[in-house]
Amino acid sequence: MISSRAVVLLVFCLSLIPKSLGFVERSWAESIALANETVNLMTLDEKIGMVRGVGQFSSRCVGNISPPSRSFIVSGTNITIPPLCFNDGPAGIRLGGSNVTGFPPAINVAATFNRDLMYSRGVAIGEEFRGKAIFVGIHVYLGPAVDIMRNPKAGRAWEGFGPDPYLGGEGAYQTIMGVQSVGVSACTKHLGPYNQEHWRYGLNAEVDDRTFRELYWWPFMKSVEANVSALMCAYNEVNGTSSCHNAALIGDEGYLRTEGFQGIVMSDWGATHDSAADNANAGLDMEQPGDWILIGGGVYSGLEAAVDDGQVSEARLNQMVTRILTPWLRLGQDQGYPDINFNAQNPDGTDSLNLNVNVRTDAHTALVRQIGSASAVLLKNNRTTSDGTATGTTIRGLPLSKDIKTIAVVGQDAQQLNLDCGGGLNECNDGTMVIGWGSGSNNVEFTVPPIDAITDFAQGFATISSDITSNDLTGGPAVAEGKDLAIVFANAMSGELGFYNIVDGNEGDRNDLNLWWKGGSLIEDVAAVCNNTVVVIHSVGPVPMSSWNNHPNITAIIYAGAPGEQTGPSLVDVLWGAVNPSGRLPFSIDDDEASYGTSIVYGIDPFPVLDYTEGLFLDYRYMDSQGITPVYEFGYGLSYTTFAYSSLSIEASASSGSVSFILTNTGSFDGTEIPQLYLGFPSSAGEPDKVLRGFDNVFLASGAKQTVTITISQKEMSIWDVISQEWVVPSGTFNVYIGASISDIRLTGSFTA
Ligand code: BGC
Repeated sequence: MISSRAVVLLVFCLSLIPKSLGFVERSWAESIALANETVNLMTLDEKIGMVRGVGQFSSRCVGNISPPSRSFIVSGTNITIPPLCFNDGPAGIRLGGSNVTGFPPAINVAATFNRDLMYSRGVAIGEEFRGKAIFVGIHVYLGPAVDIMRNPKAGRAWEGFGPDPYLGGEGAYQTIMGVQSVGVSACTKHLGPYNQEHWRYGLNAEVDDRTFRELYWWPFMKSVEANVSALMCAYNEVNGTSSCHNAALIGDEGYLRTEGFQGIVMSDWGATHDSAADNANAGLDMEQPGDWILIGGGVYSGLEAAVDDGQVSEARLNQMVTRILTPWLRLGQDQGYPDINFNAQNPDGTDSLNLNVNVRTDAHTALVRQIGSASAVLLKNNRTTSDGTATGTTIRGLPLSKDIKTIAVVGQDAQQLNLDCGGGLNECNDGTMVIGWGSGSNNVEFTVPPIDAITDFAQGFATISSDITSNDLTGGPAVAEGKDLAIVFANAMSGELGFYNIVDGNEGDRNDLNLWWKGGSLIEDVAAVCNNTVVVIHSVGPVPMSSWNNHPNITAIIYAGAPGEQTGPSLVDVLWGAVNPSGRLPFSIDDDEASYGTSIVYGIDPFPVLDYTEGLFLDYRYMDSQGITPVYEFGYGLSYTTFAYSSLSIEASASSGSVSFILTNTGSFDGTEIPQLYLGFPSSAGEPDKVLRGFDNVFLASGAKQTVTITISQKEMSIWDVISQEWVVPSGTFNVYIGASISDIRLTGSFTA
């Protein structure tokens, strides 16, 4: 006999089982029609409630709306609009309570050069946003962030995919396809260009049409191709007009709508600097977070009056509401979408609105670990033995042998990070660096630091000594001296300005490229006393390395970036060879900021004008054009094995290209190679000498070979023609470079278009 209490419990437990994510996706056209019908039934007040956000400091999510309090029946469909929930961030849920996963940020996903991992991360993030499998039901994921790393010190560059637009475009596309495949809307941000934190609320980015289209716009264009639901306009001005009031960007005749975008344009939080009519008429569909006192209650508090007195037409207001409803209908969020169950104002689960449901899964944890190791870039590896034998304690470099018996772990970046800083937004850098700070940060409480993972793994075959509570230039080398191996950790971090803390004097953007906490000196001092020193760098972007990278005692360098919560295990996988590294640099590394050809403007008052005079020449494109050889170049990364490239064949016309070659694993380890395709446009086109236009990730067992084919679309062989306002394939000879990095070109061919 089952008691009624047991039945209730059973029903409750059943309700916790993730529903199949089965949802009915509608076409854009069908969704627009339904949305239009619904809007026609709404009162003016109801429409205003739809387009005016409810703010970050008062609502359940970092943004909500106030929907009509009644339902509508249109074309036989019951439309009950919830207080749509918009939440950060690009690398996983923030302010959603614990029990969520700390995924790696986009810069590390970029370093994998692996579309499958980009997509899988999108799916996993989407699953957590959708419902903590069941309950949370965040309708719109505020990501991906696709801001181009115009300068390597830019505070939020790690939220995006680096300086290359093609890589950023692929990252954006795969992320959106993944997130939206589980019925969660994505919101690409920040349109832009938005490339530094200092003065972000009002600086003016002056950028010409071609540069904008080919660099900064490209990932947004790919987002539209992926059917992204929403787009967020940035805080700053673009060519003299604030982004959210910039018809050239977001108006009906602007970049976005002429690309075919049919979803929502929403403001960044507080990015409305003009009147209700200015913003609405320019193309801003939704203001977030509308009711902020800080920004005068939001400019859309004046929208109703602007409609009443005819400054904004009711037709335009209808269009705004339609665009907000359309993606919600398209992804079937009107049917059976989970209720919101968390409270961003009280994320620790201590109030009745927050069930703090666990959305972590073993699969998500495993994926984070996999991306962590797949994004580790092996910069140097002297796998030599001092006595000429291949085994024993004298083996140096990676992968490590279990014959190594005494290991020193040095540097505070190896220890657990500080979980209690900056209101959970990771606004400190006292331990290991897994992600930057600010709204793009995520839940770091499950971080497995390097020291724990190394200690766990090496138990039973090696003795670990450590000096990790600070970067102690005396204690660190003292521990390293006389050991078979020293692993020395150093890091650099950056984050968001705004409401977030200044961390060690850095107001979002980094003050300089240097490693923090004397990390460079620590590396040098450890290398001076241990002839088998392995360096691990956790950083949000390039750091200087040339004062120590060639030191003969430094036998290997791993650039591990910002790997997310499974940092320690993913590093162990690479160090001891369970994973053969295949990460590649998504930016060039050089000591000198001048090598990047751009700068961050720090101390000007009032708001500065940033002239994007470098045009198309960022990072490797700039270095190539200036004959600058960086310390490590874009696309670079070693493997424990070697690969040979042969038999290039090109079939191409002015409308598409197909490039094939044979890749062979010529070494003794199984491994993944990342072949890259760079295109050299006809010289008349005014392009950089080589631009990335393709890549693949190819796993090959030792000795195996495979034909690899990379295709190039018409747009990928086009330049933006400012006169005709079209993508045009320049006529002439195109060079095709297939290589293992921008400067390690293995095969060259050409075609004529
Ligand atoms: C950031 C956005 C973020 C929003 C909501 C803003 O300060 O620029 O990227 O989505 O806050 O937290």
